Amino acid sequence: MKIIRNKKRLKTLIQKDKNLGFVPTMGAIHEGHMSLIRKSIKQCDKTIISIFVNKPQFNKKSDFNSYPRDLNKDISTLRKLKINYLYLPTSKQIYPYGPNKRIKINKFEKKLCGQYRPGHFKSVVDVVDKFIEIINPKKIYFGEKDMQQLKIITDYVKKKHVNLQVIPCKTVRDKNGVALSSRNLLLSKNEYNIASKIYNFIKNAKNKIINKKISINHIKDKINKFKIKKIEYITILDVNKLIKPYVKKKKYRIFISYYLGKTRLIDNI
Ligand code: PAJ
Repeated sequence: MKIIRNKKRLKTLIQKDKNLGFVPTMGAIHEGHMSLIRKSIKQCDKTIISIFVNKPQFNKKSDFNSYPRDLNKDISTLRKLKINYLYLPTSKQIYPYGPNKRIKINKFEKKLCGQYRPGHFKSVVDVVDKFIEIINPKKIYFGEKDMQQLKIITDYVKKKHVNLQVIPCKTVRDKNGVALSSRNLLLSKNEYNIASKIYNFIKNAKNKIINKKISINHIKDKINKFKIKKIEYITILDVNKLIKPYVKKKKYRIFISYYLGKTRLIDNI
């Protein structure tokens, strides 16, 4: 695994790699990230991972500062996976002229998380676009855990990078059902147990909600009793209609965003 910090050096190294798989991350690598990486290794001749905690996509400075970082651990985890390149850019290399605040993305950016994180998805698409320009991969991997991000990026790539394929990857959960997330490292034991209860509760209630036997508000009231700080949103949506087309057999998902203490978690079940 070659570790590269310099953009020019990276470009020289990868210029002949025509079947390159790319997994963008913000580090604190866990099994969720690793499932994307393994898929890329299977599907592509070479695989490149980036670790870059992208400041503009954070709405609060405190959230950016407290985002978990453990580069040494990440490097040793990634070495075991036998990836080809790890790109660790500086902010200056990604934003030589600053972020592009005027980037045009699908209006789905205003829904769900977008209501609570203005500009967030524009900054995500901007950074991903900048990575694509540098790396020119054949395939790029994103998790369904962040379904709204996946859908918005897929839509953008289809319009702006027609030769690039976006590969969606299933959400990886631990044995208690909690979707793996770098932010889970910020949870206390008690908060983690609540996250697990919420997942299991929604999973068991999902069919009743689809069949309209219980309402989403009823679920909201029950979850509020789990001693969480607040629910930002909970809603049921047909994933085929988020941004068309998207054909999934099990089309309904319950989308939730909530706070456990200071930690904001999202899931779709
Ligand atoms: P990050 O949160 O590090 O996630 C990197 C990728 O891993 C994303 O595509 C995300 O959906 C996926 N992922 C995270 N947890 C997962 C899980 N439990 N199961 C499956 N996939 C999972 O998402 C970002 O970084 C950033 O917004 C980024 C795209 C890198 C732009 O800065």
